[in-house]
Amino acid sequence: MSRPDFLWGVATAAFQIEGATQADGRLPSIWDTYAATPGNVLNGDTGDRACEHYHRWADDVDLIGSLGVDAYRLSIAWPRVIGLDGELNSRGVDFYKRVLDRLADKGIQRYATLYHWDLPQHLEDRGGWLNRDTAYRFADYADKISRALEGRVTAWATLNEPWCSAYLGYTHGRHAPGRRGPRYAAQALHHLLLGHGLAQPALQANDAKAQRGIVVNIGRGAPEDPNSAADREAARLFEVQLNDWVLDALLKGEYPEDVFRLRPGTEPLVLEGDMDVISRPLDFLGINYYYRSTLRSDDGHGYVEVQPPGRERTQMGWEVCPEAFTELLVGFRERYANLPPILITENGMASADLVVDGQVADTQRCAYLQRHFAAVHAAIEAGVDVRGYFVWSLLDNFEWAYGYERRFGLVHVDYDTQVRTLKHSAKGFQAFLAERARGPR
Ligand code: FCB
Repeated sequence: MSRPDFLWGVATAAFQIEGATQADGRLPSIWDTYAATPGNVLNGDTGDRACEHYHRWADDVDLIGSLGVDAYRLSIAWPRVIGLDGELNSRGVDFYKRVLDRLADKGIQRYATLYHWDLPQHLEDRGGWLNRDTAYRFADYADKISRALEGRVTAWATLNEPWCSAYLGYTHGRHAPGRRGPRYAAQALHHLLLGHGLAQPALQANDAKAQRGIVVNIGRGAPEDPNSAADREAARLFEVQLNDWVLDALLKGEYPEDVFRLRPGTEPLVLEGDMDVISRPLDFLGINYYYRSTLRSDDGHGYVEVQPPGRERTQMGWEVCPEAFTELLVGFRERYANLPPILITENGMASADLVVDGQVADTQRCAYLQRHFAAVHAAIEAGVDVRGYFVWSLLDNFEWAYGYERRFGLVHVDYDTQVRTLKHSAKGFQAFLAERARGPR
């Protein structure tokens, strides 16, 4: 990218890589419970071992360093660092201190997400994100951990993809905690966003030099038939419930009415002042983008998703569409006068990668990444303030309901031996970063 200070990084999340789910006083999380229930995760996979990053962290940090990235996005596991009494668990905290310090020694910037979906199970037992009190518990956790890690992180992101936590976790049921209430998503989302807002003053007070933000998932909706006004409206409504629902709350302090027209009777309980808390100013907005969806009008539900044949897709079945990435970024700049600087906190793809003669020829990923870098570049040229880009993911890892079968890593993980092998995409990224480091700054 043209900015010399543009950040290039890789991303992971605690539950997806750490394993060691019972080490050093870590408490069970909703993902431990969910994965332990047969039928929830493909092949019965769990996070018990994952990439064993909890024990292999030093080598993994060296691996990150070897790629030549500027920054690493990780998440902190709430159930590792806060005990049942609500106080810090120093053994869990020390793990993150060691990781963050080794990254700092290598000159790698540290982007820490406080909540990447691993809610302590004991809080779920009291209602989880449907219980307003969980927002206050989150703010308390943010307060304590930011005091403990003060000066060690470059930036804090409160939540990862609150839409997924709320909708997939509490209405759709395909993510932990696996609840399926049509009205739950809106209430859970409200409490997640409230927790995000409530955490801001403590993060600022405890670690004033670190930047503060949040990470959201976004997606593009395209009409199945572009000539059909009904399909175009379906695509619009899809984006309202995926993008505007969260972004309007954060950046305008309101929920879009269309969300509740789509799902009558699902309005959350919002107390006076909540929306002001939720829309407190941010230093950055983290954006995760993966694919485009195609929608057909459905009079009963607003839209249904369809899968037109003949389009390039990934191992997840997700349509590859870099142009949609540019369109979304440019669209947000038009919609939100106060759009904060953007970091692309996730982008990448899954493929069924194999090691053959020591090589992993992930050609689809190499092309995907190049095309999406170009899409971000096009958005920057169009005036969008994008400051950095993190590839999802450093390693193949526990891909939630899909377990270990879907491989998103730049680095291949053999789950029997835990051997890490740089895929061609990792080598390409490494070469690109080395080239940039040599070039004029
Ligand atoms: C995102 C999640 C991340 C990863 C990618 C593929 O929704 O934030 O943990 O699973 O999808």
